[in-house]
Amino acid sequence: MFFFSVPIVHIEAVAGDPVYLPCDISTDEPGDQVLLVLWYREDLGTPIYSVDGRERDFSLAERWSDENVFANRAYFMPEKKPAELGIDHIRETDQSVYRCRVDFKIAQTRNSKVNLTVIGKVTMY
Ligand SMILES: *[C@@H]1O[C@H](CO)[C@@H](O)[C@H](O)[C@H]1NC(C)=O
Repeated sequence: MFFFSVPIVHIEAVAGDPVYLPCDISTDEPGDQVLLVLWYREDLGTPIYSVDGRERDFSLAERWSDENVFANRAYFMPEKKPAELGIDHIRETDQSVYRCRVDFKIAQTRNSKVNLTVIGKVTMY
C-alpha cells in the first residue's frame, strides 16, 4: 500500500456564503475521458457527492449528493477550469477537509484536497 502526497488548497468562507471547491478533472491523454468524480469528507467513510459518467457521456453524468451533508446545496461545475463543486449557504458545520477523487478512462486516478475553514458571520451594529 502506497501513500501518495495529495495536493491541498486552503479556502476560507463566511457562513451563509457560497463556496467553490476546486477539483481538477482535466487530462492530457489522447482519447481520455472522465469516468467518475467522488467527493469525500475526511470524517466520513463514504462519498458525499458523486458525478458518475461511467454509463454515459460525462456531460450527462448522473449526479448524487448525500442528503445528510450538502443535499441540494451542492452542484458540480465541470466546465470551470479547474472544475468546481459549488456549495450554497455554507455552514460552520461544513468546516472540514474534503477530498476529490477523479477516475479517468486512461490516466491514473487523481486525488486532491480542500481544507475548508468557515468563519461565523460577523454582524455589524
Ligand atoms: C486546515 O486548516 C486548519 C485551520 O486553518 C488547520 O488548523 C489545519 O491544520 C488544516 N488541516 C490540514 C490537513 O491542512
